[in-house]
Amino acid sequence: MIEHQASHPPAPERRTHSGRPANDRTITVRPATPSDLGLIVNLRLALVREHRANPIYERVRPDAPDRARRLFAAQLRSPDEVIFLAQRDEQVVGILRCVQAGGLPLLFPPTHGYISSVYVVPRARRQGVLRALLDAAIAWCVARDITELRLHNASDNAVANTVWEALGFHVVEHLRLRRLA
Ligand SMILES: CC(C)(COP(=O)(O)OP(=O)(O)OC[C@H]1O[C@@H](n2cnc3c(N)ncnc32)[C@H](O)[C@@H]1OP(=O)(O)O)[C@@H](O)C(=O)NCCC(=O)NCCS
Repeated sequence: MIEHQASHPPAPERRTHSGRPANDRTITVRPATPSDLGLIVNLRLALVREHRANPIYERVRPDAPDRARRLFAAQLRSPDEVIFLAQRDEQVVGILRCVQAGGLPLLFPPTHGYISSVYVVPRARRQGVLRALLDAAIAWCVARDITELRLHNASDNAVANTVWEALGFHVVEHLRLRRLA
């Protein structure tokens, strides 16, 4: 488990039943387990819903929740990827998936870390949750000798464009779409 202290100013001190200060803003990050499947489905469907104005994400299948359960259960079993969950005040507030992906056959590096499914619940945004999730993904990649991270983000997501630039991810390709039907 990786611990991060969020940077916003502390509120007046209160105590929980466990004796821990109620204003303890520690963010902990842990790999998800199969028992987190329901949470993962909810967070990742919320992410899709937030992108519903985008030409790719507007066409959600009616049985998406069932498909999501099957797909994410398989992802949780895969040895080549990890789903990290961020918790604060004992509640899950964010998610990030990282896959060890193969590179292009003629090019270096042979493998890279591919980040997807990044979502922080609205009430926890702008408090360092994504930074904490990304730190965990970087540690996971370094432990596997992965030297590069890649990701896609929706080009109409102004916050994501700003966030990824701020975190050192620069645009190197554009995905273009032309509908034929
Ligand atoms: C994008 C998202 C994951 C960011 O998560 P977060 O936990 O709020 O991000 P952090 O607090 O760790 O911010 C990291 C840095 O990104 C930048 N940033 C974050 N939110 C920002 C915003 N709304 N506007 C401008 N910059 C922002 C800042 O540079 C910030 O560092 P700072 O707070 O030290 O200045 C979150 O807004 C979200 O879930 N959005 C909806 C889903 C989504 O768009 N996912 C991305 C798909 S690719």
